[in-house]
Amino acid sequence: MLWRRIGRYRVKMITELSHDDFQALAALEARALSGVSAALLGEALSGDAACVVGYWHDEQLTGYALLARLPFDAELQAMGVLPEHRGQGVGDRVLKAVLAVAARWQSERVLLEVRESNAAAIRLYKGAGFQQDGYRRDYYPAVHGAAGRESALLMSRSV
Ligand SMILES: CC(C)(COP(=O)(O)OP(=O)(O)OC[C@H]1O[C@@H](n2cnc3c(N)ncnc32)[C@H](O)[C@@H]1OP(=O)(O)O)[C@@H](O)C(=O)NCCC(=O)NCCS
Repeated sequence: MLWRRIGRYRVKMITELSHDDFQALAALEARALSGVSAALLGEALSGDAACVVGYWHDEQLTGYALLARLPFDAELQAMGVLPEHRGQGVGDRVLKAVLAVAARWQSERVLLEVRESNAAAIRLYKGAGFQQDGYRRDYYPAVHGAAGRESALLMSRSV
C-alpha cells in the first residue's frame, strides 16, 4: 500500500488509490452503489486522466471518490461510502481531499451531476460549497427497476 498525504486531511487515512487497490474498490462500490461500473473504476486507477481518493478505516476501504481531469475543470464522477460508515463525516473528508486534488491540477471548477432524490449527496455537496447551476430532466433511469426516469441536478464549485 502506498500511503500518500493529500492536502492536510487525515494523514494515513486518505490515500490516492492505485491499481493494487482495485479489488477493495470494486467491493466497496458493489455495496455503496454510486452507479459506476467496475470497468470504469479500473480505467480510472490505471491512467493519468483521473484520480481515485480512498478513505481507510482500520485498513478497510470505507469510502471513495473518483475525480476525472478535464481540460479546464475536473468532474466528480462517483463517490460512495459503505452503508454502515455513513453519517460520520467520511463523505465530507473524501470530498475535501477531492478538492485538494483539483487544486493540485489547477482545475478552475469541480463539476458533478446528482439524482434529484439523493438528499444525502445533495446536502453533502451543498455543505462543501457546491451550487446548483443546471437541471437535466429525465436524465437517469429510475432506481431499483422502478418505472420512468429521474432528473439530475448539475452542480459546481470553484476550486
Ligand atoms: C452521499 C454519501 C457519499 C454521503 O457520505 P457520508 O459519509 O454519509 O456523508 P457525511 O457523513 O460526510 O455527511 C455529509 C453531510 O451529508 C448529510 N447526510 C449524510 N447522510 C444523509 C442522509 N441520509 N440524509 C440527509 N443528509 C445526509 C450529513 O448530515 C452531512 O451534512 P451536515 O454536515 O450538514 O450534517 C453516502 O450517503 C453514499 O455513499 N451514498 C450512496 C452513493 C451515492 O449516492 N453517491 C453519490 C452519487 S452522486
